[in-house]
Amino acid sequence: MRNKVTIVGSGNVGATAAHWIASKELADVVLIDIIEGVPQGKGLDLLEAMPIEKRDCAILGTNDYADTANSNIVIITAGIPRKPGMSRDDLLNTNYKIMSDVVGKVVHHSPNCILIIVSNPLDAMAQAAYKISGFPRERVIGMAGVLDSARFRAFIAQHLNVSVENVTAFVLGGHGDTMVPLPRYSTVAGIPITELIDKATLDRIVQRTRDGGAEIVKYLKTGSAYYAPSAAATEMVEAILKDKKKILPCAAYLNGEYGIHGLFVGVPAKLGSKGIEQIIEIKLTAEEKAALDKSAAAVKELVGVINV
Ligand code: LAC
Repeated sequence: MRNKVTIVGSGNVGATAAHWIASKELADVVLIDIIEGVPQGKGLDLLEAMPIEKRDCAILGTNDYADTANSNIVIITAGIPRKPGMSRDDLLNTNYKIMSDVVGKVVHHSPNCILIIVSNPLDAMAQAAYKISGFPRERVIGMAGVLDSARFRAFIAQHLNVSVENVTAFVLGGHGDTMVPLPRYSTVAGIPITELIDKATLDRIVQRTRDGGAEIVKYLKTGSAYYAPSAAATEMVEAILKDKKKILPCAAYLNGEYGIHGLFVGVPAKLGSKGIEQIIEIKLTAEEKAALDKSAAAVKELVGVINV
């Protein structure tokens, strides 16, 4: 049987995720939105590209949740994006309302799906989806670490003029200003980057990674990034559908791991057909642990506001 992935929200992130998923022939795709016509138009347009791309994916744009029934994975991108000068946290109340509405409908039609949350503020929205869905924590995953790590990797590869394939990097913590890039666990062809890049340059790259989303918002003015965020969600989809057991940084509900209880925070997780199959606990220095705790405290403050 073919896999089915629903994408909620047919804006730039949702539509581009549909594009990546279809171009890799990972699944049939349902693109759903409350706006009439946009998911239908984008879905049909993408469907018509399939003969050229030689991909057999059915793509359907719709406003009706009945069409999303029995999806293996549902990616939620719905919500308003940032404008220049706004932080992801400024989106909290509006996107929480949207999330509450969407998750109920999704779960009704796909009770066994895995949820990948992309809406911001990411960690708080993942926590909201977890509480509203009633799903086990394995099946509610926030997309942030793959994106933040990809930005870190891109900047490292560009600086050293090496293949992006050679660069492995980890960014932990919340998807916000307090995220925690971990240079100590980041390597180029196995060589720690701390051996290859001086501290001042590395500090600059770390800061650019933290500001990566805002850098794009500043250029676009009317929206936020979408190529890299949707590619990141697609990597998670592929790891799950192909049961790859791939270790990726994901926002996961922690039950004591890293000394954090009852909160979504970005950590390394093994993704396979069951969703999050293992949370990997890596040793952190006192300084790294303090940075992770600070990031978790920022997430806790947000989830306190929406009371989830
Ligand atoms: C970003 C937004 C999508 O980091 O959170 O670009």
